[in-house]
Amino acid sequence: MTVPIIALRGVNKSFGPIDVLHDISLEVKAGEVLCLLGDNGAGKSTLIRLLSGVHQPTTGTIEMDGKPVSFPSPRAASDNGIATVHQFGGTFPLMSIGRSFFIGVEPTKGWGPFKIYDRKRANAVAVKAVQDFGITRIDDGDRLVGGLSGGERQSLAIARAVHFGARVLILDEPTAALGVKQATHVLRIVNEAKRRGLAVVFITHQVMHAMAVGDHFAVLIRGAVAADFKKGEKSREEITDLMAGGASMASLEAEIEGYMASHDGHPPPPAH
Ligand SMILES: Nc1ncnc2c1ncn2[C@@H]1O[C@H](COP(=O)(O)OP(=O)(O)O)[C@@H](O)[C@H]1O
Ligand SMILES: [Mg+2]
Repeated sequence: MTVPIIALRGVNKSFGPIDVLHDISLEVKAGEVLCLLGDNGAGKSTLIRLLSGVHQPTTGTIEMDGKPVSFPSPRAASDNGIATVHQFGGTFPLMSIGRSFFIGVEPTKGWGPFKIYDRKRANAVAVKAVQDFGITRIDDGDRLVGGLSGGERQSLAIARAVHFGARVLILDEPTAALGVKQATHVLRIVNEAKRRGLAVVFITHQVMHAMAVGDHFAVLIRGAVAADFKKGEKSREEITDLMAGGASMASLEAEIEGYMASHDGHPPPPAH
């Protein structure tokens, strides 16, 4: 059996008297996407903050390559190859693509040519890295990041993480604010990261997006893993219901869709 790149073993997290995560055990192997699903407040962001060194578990352990690790800071997590890409890509709108690609890496990692910022070289490396990821529309490293679409920004952030050696990619709702076309773009990049052997943790509310990339799914409800299953083991309707805490959301959705289809696109009136 392959050893997972990253795993949580019996992890609990409390903030003072508030228990946010209960006995979480999850693992992600190389070339695998774990989709973390759950309603607002379920504990998804807290879980990724543990993986990315923002918080530390109250009890339980995080393992990398089968060995216990601790991340006292985000820097420690990132030094261990854990990259977190937040919504909107976490980039700087007024910075060029080449510049933003190398931000934070120039002096610390002793990148010779970048001790004095070499614009041409930085642009060439950044453009090649994103093009290798299939983002062929980015071809000029002098363009400002702010001029990229939401999907392109996310993709740039993912390509950057992979370029600098990330082994675990954590994506917190990367497609939440995107239209269908842009989201598709990001999902393709996630599949490319997976093909390259990264372990991906993908957080989303959108069941369809999860199903497009996920190998493995975990549904968090009030801080606990309420369901843990593999691709193909549950239908879209079952996953939707699970996310809503067991309520029959899928049939409610279908009812509303049916009503709207037969009422000229108008939603049902409020119930009295
Ligand atoms: N630093 C904190 N102190 C106290 N409670 C927190 C803290 N961070 C998160 N929580 C609580 O933990 C629960 C889960 O939050 P969060 O992880 O952000 O959920 P999600 O990302 O799934 O919406 C919420 O009830 C939230 O109020
Ligand atoms: Mg969240």
